[in-house]
Amino acid sequence: MKQKKRVLVIGGAGFLGSHVADSLSEQGHEVTIYDMKKSRYLRKEQKQIIGDILDEAMINKALKGIQVVYHMAGISDIEESFQRPVDTVKFNILGTTIILEACLKNKIEKFLFASSAYVYSDSGSFYRISKQACELIIEGYAEKGNLPYVILRYGSLYGERADRRNSIFRMLEDALTTGKISYAGDGSEKREFIHVKDAADLSVEALQDRYNGQNLILTGVDSINYSELLKMLNEMMHGKLKIEFKKNKSKTHYALTPYSFNPKLGRKLVTNPHIDLGQGLLNMISQIHHDLHPELKDKFGLLVNEK
Ligand SMILES: NC(=O)c1ccc[n+]([C@@H]2O[C@H](COP(=O)([O-])OP(=O)(O)OC[C@H]3O[C@@H](n4cnc5c(N)ncnc54)[C@H](O)[C@@H]3O)[C@@H](O)[C@H]2O)c1
Repeated sequence: MKQKKRVLVIGGAGFLGSHVADSLSEQGHEVTIYDMKKSRYLRKEQKQIIGDILDEAMINKALKGIQVVYHMAGISDIEESFQRPVDTVKFNILGTTIILEACLKNKIEKFLFASSAYVYSDSGSFYRISKQACELIIEGYAEKGNLPYVILRYGSLYGERADRRNSIFRMLEDALTTGKISYAGDGSEKREFIHVKDAADLSVEALQDRYNGQNLILTGVDSINYSELLKMLNEMMHGKLKIEFKKNKSKTHYALTPYSFNPKLGRKLVTNPHIDLGQGLLNMISQIHHDLHPELKDKFGLLVNEK
């Protein structure tokens, strides 16, 4: 699918959705964002509709004239989902079903869904359960009518526009504001972090027809454990960080791998070249520092207080 499309990015005001919207615009697609909150990142060439995914009439209206739908809205945080199972079912499962119903009715050419690398793990609690249910419901709709789809199973994302729900953001912000990082675990927990911009570019790549009906795994290229990651951050902070490993390990996150045996295979899609983890972290540190100190201006590579 190389032609320019009219695309609706549902959840496009969020962390991942806003970057996907950017990548789509950069490739010349006509982008409209559908989100319950106003996007801070809306570009001149993008439109936004403010609405809830549970509002069937609004969703149907928003889909008029749309060819491709990216669905990235709902409860996206594992801990929040653990605390709010009823809302997780409502927003993630019912919300997705309402969108799919509207996609069939409006003869959408392609539906792309933000799932998770957690989807067939034993961790992730109600969040994982909601993603499993959504994947099955998508398959059900594809069988019911003609709805080409791609399931995008994202791994651990990091990068600009994240907030405190994101583990890397929390660590970096704590490092910059308190000089201390408290980590719940022993540090052996492994992750394949992927920069959100790489994930967004791959999500646009997934528009190609050869990926129809596939489950694509979008995780980073290199695997790193939290001990190594924290060591790297400490080096970036000139060895001045205090790092504390707390014993109460997370009940909802996985240790070594998000994968457990399941016959439904996913194909890993990788970018080459990609944003290096160290470079990506430095950019994120610089953005958090800038947000914490808006009074400082960058002048020829030096931070200057103009007041
Ligand atoms: N961030 C990650 O590391 C990660 C990893 C794997 C999968 N995902 C998935 O990617 C998607 C996007 O994640 P994110 O990190 O950008 O989350 P996010 O919370 O930043 O973005 C979600 C967006 O959905 C909107 N939204 C929520 N409920 C809505 C509703 N009822 N109606 C309309 N809009 C609503 C929010 O306002 C928000 O802008 C989610 O489905 C998430 O599960 C994220």
